[in-house]
Amino acid sequence: MRRPMVAGNWKMHGTRASVVTLIEGLTQQVLPADVDVAVFPSALHLAQVVDGLVGKAVAVGAQDCATQAEQGALTGEVAASQLQDLQCSLVLVGHSERRSLLGEGDEVVVRKFAAAQSSGLQPVLCVGETLGQRQAGQTLSVVAGQVAAVIDALGVAVFARAVIAYEPVWAIGTGLTATPEQAQEVHAAIRAQLAAKDAQLANEVRILYGGSVKAVSAAELFGMPDIDGGLVGGASLNADEFGAICRAAGN
Ligand code: 13P
Repeated sequence: MRRPMVAGNWKMHGTRASVVTLIEGLTQQVLPADVDVAVFPSALHLAQVVDGLVGKAVAVGAQDCATQAEQGALTGEVAASQLQDLQCSLVLVGHSERRSLLGEGDEVVVRKFAAAQSSGLQPVLCVGETLGQRQAGQTLSVVAGQVAAVIDALGVAVFARAVIAYEPVWAIGTGLTATPEQAQEVHAAIRAQLAAKDAQLANEVRILYGGSVKAVSAAELFGMPDIDGGLVGGASLNADEFGAICRAAGN
């Protein structure tokens, strides 16, 4: 069976003080032993969070990394090898906010995915369609294209050391959650796409749902056969709410 994962993407939120409060809240949560829990603070707060969560079974990841894995002359960027040195174990790649607002295309996403893995980090590949694409009936082809970009460039086997997050753009930060059936349809399609290349790998890869996940909606989403947990934005800034979502993914 796939081990569920619940990850909190803090996005561009937090101050030193609010991060202290959030770490304190997280350390007080009873987290299920059968769920992998992770948080993704801003790059600025990564070290603070790694230090603050020592001894707690919560992994720490970054929200982005450079296309170049090793340190070098690349002002403003953070190398995957630096994240690894900081004891990060995960990194988001291809989040829709970076794709749409910062112009990241599949080619850049693929390079970041490869950079992450070459430094021993697990990339969390974010994919998802816009509202217009859904209304035009293009959801499955858009998502398949984003997954295929990685398979075509790096091969399907790289997904043995990666996580996929399906995040419909229209559900992010809007309070609109995909129904469990809508999400399941896309998750099943992603798994089938991988299975066409490697059935065993497809059965083992974790596919998280993201987009306005809240404690009230989590259990039903996580109960779907191909939904292996969640990538949580806004609700992950509240430790009690995030803890409840983590518990919803447990048995
Ligand atoms: P929200 O949970 O705030 O909709 O954000 C989802 C997301 O983008 C996580 O990466």
